[in-house]
Amino acid sequence: MLKEMLGMAEGILQDLHNDHEEVATLIDRIMDSKDSRQRTTLFKEMMTKLLAHSHAEEQVLYKPLEKSKTEESRSFALEGTNEHQHVEQQLKQMDGSAAKTGEQWTAQLTVLKELVDHHVKEEESTGFKCARADFDKDELAKMGEQFRRQKQRLMAKA
Ligand SMILES: [Fe+2]
Ligand SMILES: [Fe+2]
Repeated sequence: MLKEMLGMAEGILQDLHNDHEEVATLIDRIMDSKDSRQRTTLFKEMMTKLLAHSHAEEQVLYKPLEKSKTEESRSFALEGTNEHQHVEQQLKQMDGSAAKTGEQWTAQLTVLKELVDHHVKEEESTGFKCARADFDKDELAKMGEQFRRQKQRLMAKA
């Protein structure tokens, strides 16, 4: 298949990977910016994308994995949801600060980056492996459509 020749993942897994890359790039751009107003704009964009991603992912991928016959899938989904909660807490705390260029805020940004990097690494290794074991290609493709729809709904509400 063309998709495999191009090194693309199946269905929802490719959507998730694309979002992960997009969020990592935004976090790096915030890190590189010294301008408070620009940091605020980029932060809002990143936060909206990241929350819509996590919530849609929980609904479309983690929920079915929580009901898996396999213990590894269930624990991945439960741990993943818990990590999403940590990331969300960190985002809300950072969103509440007016000044986004101080040392304290920058330290929070570094911690956020570490939380997200760690989570994404686990998700793209263990999580993707569990998803490939639990769902076939057609199911993953359908989940990709659901994920994109759900994310659009959440982004429109934000
Ligand atoms: Fe993700
Ligand atoms: Fe996730």
